[in-house]
Amino acid sequence: MTKLFVSDLQGKEEIESIFLVKIFNTMEGKDGKKYFNIILTDSSGDLEARLWQYSPEIEKNITKSTFVRVKGKLNFYQGRKQFILTLIEKVPESEVNTDDFVMKSVEDPEVMFKKLLTIIESLSDVYIRDLLKNIVTDGEIARRLKTWQAGKSIHHAYRSGLLEHILSCTQLAQTLSKHYHVNPNYVIAGCILHDLCKIYELTDGINVEYTEEGKLVGHLVKGLEIVDRFSYKIRNFPHYTKMHLKHILLAHHGEYEYGSPKIPQTSEAYLVHLIDLMDSKMGTLDLIKKTDSATGHWSGFVKHLDRIVYKSDLPFYPEYIQDEEERYPQPTVTVSPVQSPKPRSAPIPEPKTSLSKMLGGYKVEE
Ligand SMILES: [Fe+2]
Ligand SMILES: [Fe+2]
Repeated sequence: MTKLFVSDLQGKEEIESIFLVKIFNTMEGKDGKKYFNIILTDSSGDLEARLWQYSPEIEKNITKSTFVRVKGKLNFYQGRKQFILTLIEKVPESEVNTDDFVMKSVEDPEVMFKKLLTIIESLSDVYIRDLLKNIVTDGEIARRLKTWQAGKSIHHAYRSGLLEHILSCTQLAQTLSKHYHVNPNYVIAGCILHDLCKIYELTDGINVEYTEEGKLVGHLVKGLEIVDRFSYKIRNFPHYTKMHLKHILLAHHGEYEYGSPKIPQTSEAYLVHLIDLMDSKMGTLDLIKKTDSATGHWSGFVKHLDRIVYKSDLPFYPEYIQDEEERYPQPTVTVSPVQSPKPRSAPIPEPKTSLSKMLGGYKVEE
């Protein structure tokens, strides 16, 4: 059977393919009848599914992380794709190519890792440079860093997402520490080490979960352990350097209510916190644009960002508009949320107060 990917499904079609079950819940309707509420997934995104025919057999056999062959019809419900199933059956893992079901970074992890090492080599503080080099080239740390995700489901939540986030933060650190005249050695070290210990906080594999150590200790405190463990191996490692590195790690979540036992009290620590915040928010937006299943320009409500997100490209005019009539056309726009949006020819309307008003200037075909 040819694998159909979530991002290729257009709607109103009969589908038969294999997916991974991300969420599987038995629900009860207003009429008291049971049904199944399912989120299917593959390397291209998630798909909401319903099976209205309850069966105790299915409830027993299908769970989260099961590979399933499904058949049914793709419909639209409240602007979102919804797959109405007529069949669901378990498929053994040995019969599937697991790479088809795991989202990955678009960057090659080996290339990202080399870029990170080059930045470390460029540092002018010999102790911080040696500490970072020893940490990231440790066999087990390097292996995990190249594959781990940065989060369970929010930002950079895909294979090698942690390394992508760390490298992105580190590249921002190079530019911004110069711009704000702060010590780049500490900002770069903070960006490399701040989330590194997510390699102990999260599991690897198809369904990422928190480890016991992640739940009980967490990546901030594990970060301190790593600094201690590797700095003891470097002769005369300065106490105050270590103290400031530890402060950056303890303060990188920025506020007490976000799990930081200390708030940033040096310029370097504050900058690491701001870079981390910026990169995680931009990473979340990027993931929403790639995977949200709502049709049209707008995503569904994103709890983590507390807003809906405009998913299409903004208007872009490399050349002047030639005549008056072209300035205010009423375009018919068809946008698939998981594919590159088509180029737009109209300016964005002024922000208004409601979604229906915001979409008022456009006719959106679904
Ligand atoms: Fe963190
Ligand atoms: Fe982070």
